Amino acid sequence: MICMTNILIILLAIAAVKLILISVFFYADIRAAQKRDPAAKGFFEVMLLYPGLHALISYRIAHFFYRVKIFFVARLISQIARFFTGIEIHPGAKIGKRFFIDHGLGVVVGETSIIGDDVLLYQGATLGGTGIVQGKRHPTIGNNVVIGAGAKVLGDIVVGDNSYIGANAVVIKDVPPNSTVVGVPGRITKQDGKKIDVSLDHVHVLDPIMQTIEELQDRVKDLEKK
Ligand SMILES: CC(C)(COP(=O)(O)OP(=O)(O)OC[C@H]1O[C@@H](n2cnc3c(N)ncnc32)[C@H](O)[C@@H]1OP(=O)(O)O)[C@@H](O)C(=O)NCCC(=O)NCCS
Repeated sequence: MICMTNILIILLAIAAVKLILISVFFYADIRAAQKRDPAAKGFFEVMLLYPGLHALISYRIAHFFYRVKIFFVARLISQIARFFTGIEIHPGAKIGKRFFIDHGLGVVVGETSIIGDDVLLYQGATLGGTGIVQGKRHPTIGNNVVIGAGAKVLGDIVVGDNSYIGANAVVIKDVPPNSTVVGVPGRITKQDGKKIDVSLDHVHVLDPIMQTIEELQDRVKDLEKK
């Protein structure tokens, strides 16, 4: 009986030390989550119950092992975190400060992704590659970027600072800073706070279906005139 009590006390002490270490070392990340999720009710709620934070903590530990080239352990930690959180962050990715994944399920961050400070990812967001090429094949995300639910950012492209990627957008080309991108393929609808008239924007009109419809409309008009 005394032995069981001792084991319990030791386990509780380990848990307490773990919580103290997490709240000290990951203070900025926990505060960032609290700040960016209006539903967050308190520091300890975020620390104990947010899968995005747990995935990030696991990533930071896994990344350490990756950097010292203990790849198997790095990947093992990443896969255990994926099992518990549904979030897969490759230990080779480089992630800045105050990163937050809201809800989280289905988020994938590829090996050569680079993520700046104060970035927010919603569930289902993917920072992925476009093929089986070696080397840098995943996106570089600037500071203060929000990537909406289900959005896919693919390839070795750059998303500029302070940009928003809309929910379910598929982004395959560079995004300048201070832009809002929506749709498939992604097109810029706002830049530096100003709306972009898509019909006048010949640089970012990427949707081939819309382009074909517009061409057909022009032809019908021409034929009607004749
Ligand atoms: C893109 C987004 C950031 C809005 O940015 P915004 O600057 O406020 O843009 P607006 O709401 O003025 O919309 C601009 C245009 O894009 C369209 N739009 C907005 N979001 C879109 C989306 N995800 N997909 C396609 N079109 C979208 C709007 O209908 C509007 O079109 P219009 O100009 O033809 O009327 C936002 O809609 C979004 O998708 N955020 C992601 C949030 C998210 O994933 N939340 C998950 C919480 S669980």
